[in-house]
Amino acid sequence: MKVLVIGGGGREHALVWKIKQSSMVNEIFCAPGNAGIAEIAQCFPVKAEDIPGQVELAKRVGANLVVVGPEVPLAEGIVDICQAEGIKAFGPTKKAALIESDKAFAKGLMDKARIPTAKFSTFENPDKAKIVLKCLEKEDFPRVIKASGLCAGKGSIMVKDKEEALATVDKIMRDRIFGEAGDTIVLEEYLEGDEVSLLVFTDGKDFVFLLPSQDHKPVFNDDEGPNTGGMGAYAPVPFLSDKDIGKIIDKVHAPAIHYLRKMGIEYKGVLYAGLIITEKDPKVLEFNCRFGDPETQPIFMLLETDLMEPLLASIEGNLKNISLKWKPGYATCVILASGGYPGKYEKGKEITGLDKVTDAVVFHAGIRKEGDKWLTNGGRVLGVTGVGKDLETSVDSTYREVDKIKFEGVHNRLDIGVHGLTYLMFHQSLI
Ligand code: AMP
Ligand code: GLY
Repeated sequence: MKVLVIGGGGREHALVWKIKQSSMVNEIFCAPGNAGIAEIAQCFPVKAEDIPGQVELAKRVGANLVVVGPEVPLAEGIVDICQAEGIKAFGPTKKAALIESDKAFAKGLMDKARIPTAKFSTFENPDKAKIVLKCLEKEDFPRVIKASGLCAGKGSIMVKDKEEALATVDKIMRDRIFGEAGDTIVLEEYLEGDEVSLLVFTDGKDFVFLLPSQDHKPVFNDDEGPNTGGMGAYAPVPFLSDKDIGKIIDKVHAPAIHYLRKMGIEYKGVLYAGLIITEKDPKVLEFNCRFGDPETQPIFMLLETDLMEPLLASIEGNLKNISLKWKPGYATCVILASGGYPGKYEKGKEITGLDKVTDAVVFHAGIRKEGDKWLTNGGRVLGVTGVGKDLETSVDSTYREVDKIKFEGVHNRLDIGVHGLTYLMFHQSLI
């Protein structure tokens, strides 16, 4: 088969890396890809958001399957267009992708399908939002204010008090820091607990789960600083058993997909629930209609099954015949970011040490090549991903490899995996 992967980040590098291992695949293409992906697949300079360009490319290379990485082409209906052209495409249709692209829609769905989530209100008018905020008491904070549209993971702002909340409404709705994505906002209760990403493959009827993972969204150690697209992730999380996962799917993923079906929308692809495991129960923070970045990197390092099997079964409605096999142990991915990210950063810094990495896979994201030189070309540059028989070994060996890679301004979190390690310290028998 010939497969075209759409996108050009670390997640797409992991998709290409894993799909290339399939005995079903003899050619693999990526658009736009990046310099790292170009080492293992033929890349084409077509932007992920250029839907006609991507569909034309799929036809030109004779792709039998298109796998869509990022949310924007999904939200713009690339799967519907591929279907209309007779090209198999993995991912939800435009209407189904609303579960990610419109947070107000997603919260409404959770409400109607009785999916546990943070209490919320949505506002299209900043003055109305401010009237509600002014009525809140000191103990009603912190809260979270979210732009309803797509913001590359950066559209949620935690506010500590009323003043900050009022200023944030102005920043999103009047200064329009997130553009039209902030025309509607969601005001949410702040949830306390461990965060987990639980993704399932679904063909609209059945579900097969991927290992639960934990992303690290804020830019600095100890979850300080602004949110990023994700600074690192590990899998599996030690605090969810398969039984817990089954219960979550019954309460979260299954009702979401059934409710969409009631609305006449069939959801096929991967459904990502971002959850907080609160003291009482797991609650949904958000749904995404695609694989996570960087969660995909450690998850695929542990996936033994040929990825083409669940990808095709999700499209063809055969998921009940699929079970995924996982390698034992843990995987950890640490993101190396450009100085200044998630704010302004410079590009074009030379990266050294990639050839010294022996004990991890380095998934490339914001990177380009000039001759033999690797240069930074984005905010999240690399995802160094190592495995180990236990979480501690996977974290330690990954950081050993991280230390070999240098570029001016590079920064990474030093505490990827710490929540899992702390849990294990208190819950594992020490005998
Ligand atoms: P989102 O934009 O919804 O993907 O949220 C980005 C990140 O903000 C999440 O991954 C959480 O770390 C944090 N976050 C969002 N909503 C809440 C909430 N209600 N309570 C606590 N943290 C939240
Ligand atoms: N890692 C967060 C996301 O993919 O949305």
